[in-house]
Amino acid sequence: MTEIAASPAAGPGRERQGVVYRDGALGRRPAVPTNFADLERAARRASSKRAWAYVAGGAGEGRTMRNNRRAFDRWAIVPRMAHGVTERDLGTTVVNTALSSPLLLAPVGAGALMAPDSDLAIARAAAATGVPYIFSNQGCTPMEDCAAAMGDAPRWFQLYWSSDEDLVDSLLHRAETIGAEAVVVTLDTTVLGWRPQDLNLGSLPFARGEGIAQYTSDPRFRDIVRRRIDAARETVAERPDITLGAIRTLLAMTRNHPGRFLDNLRSPVPRAAAETFLEIYSNPGLSWDHLATLRDRTRLPVVLKGILHPDDARRAVDLGVDAIVVSNHGGRQIDGSLASLDALLDIRAAVGRGPTLLLDSGIRSGADIFVALALGADAVLLGRPYMYGLALAGQRGVEEVIRNVIAEFDLTVALTGARSVDEIDERFVRPNPSA
Ligand code: GLV
Repeated sequence: MTEIAASPAAGPGRERQGVVYRDGALGRRPAVPTNFADLERAARRASSKRAWAYVAGGAGEGRTMRNNRRAFDRWAIVPRMAHGVTERDLGTTVVNTALSSPLLLAPVGAGALMAPDSDLAIARAAAATGVPYIFSNQGCTPMEDCAAAMGDAPRWFQLYWSSDEDLVDSLLHRAETIGAEAVVVTLDTTVLGWRPQDLNLGSLPFARGEGIAQYTSDPRFRDIVRRRIDAARETVAERPDITLGAIRTLLAMTRNHPGRFLDNLRSPVPRAAAETFLEIYSNPGLSWDHLATLRDRTRLPVVLKGILHPDDARRAVDLGVDAIVVSNHGGRQIDGSLASLDALLDIRAAVGRGPTLLLDSGIRSGADIFVALALGADAVLLGRPYMYGLALAGQRGVEEVIRNVIAEFDLTVALTGARSVDEIDERFVRPNPSA
């Protein structure tokens, strides 16, 4: 008689369902909603206005964020039936990092707006779930401390190309020292986009010293700040207006700066650090010539993030980069920009099957991961959803969001009949006639 496979389709999907339903039978609910719409609503209620404006906000009228989602809606998954597949392999390797599923945590700055010790909580959740965490260059905890919280779990480092080249070298050196497995250079934020939600509140986290911990912990940056203070001593400083808002900002800067609050209060350093950061964190003149120097400046694999045009993708490939992140920065930089998923299609067609492409901007669920892979991504970056988990339940919230997204991805793979990440391709999707 023909042998018929009967083993149950075990995997992270069924495991997560098991945990949730078993807990449910005991009267316990998940710490965070398991679907994005409810997650977002709950996180909004739990966040301050300033935090929500920064994290959930986008550029201009929000058209890019909407484009990102509409692009997913325009594709439909077409599962195969009676495929008899019981084993799935969600594992893959990108840029020499082995992944148990094709998911990484995107770098998100100023996370402390959402919860205290944000980056440490995210780092621990990433380590607990085995998902690589791309440390933000605008993080709230020095990368050394986040790395220490992660043990051997994989981490990458995101770099904003500073206008101070020695600071670029210093950050690269630190990233190597903490065991980052790649450096991800963000190309699309040479200036900050027009963000009405923040602008309407007059709120820029960095001006309060939020999200500048990679800088205040950096020897080169501290040296620049010291020199700035010395230079200011020789000029007559303009006295700022003393308003309640100014006092609040000063207190925030003082609190957010490393060291003792009272020492910081008496010191010019916290304010000078925030001002210096705003002046030098990015280089509006960033060019391919800068990027071409990277190979000689670091032994880390190089990933370029923020590419949308096929010609830029080709240029990156010609430069020999290890991967490209197709991204519009979560719709935070240009209003009315091309959806990252649409760009992915163009770029995959332009560069062929070889180069590693990661998709960022718009991923909200496991089903989205499936579509992204089917359209040519090798893996994806998750951003806002895990920040919302953080806002609701700290480390546990981040962990649950990660586990939920992976679970849904696993179940989607199981239900479509793909055996592995490599098998997920355009045969499983078609343009959505219902969109
Ligand atoms: C920085 O990366 C931002 O999007 O605010």
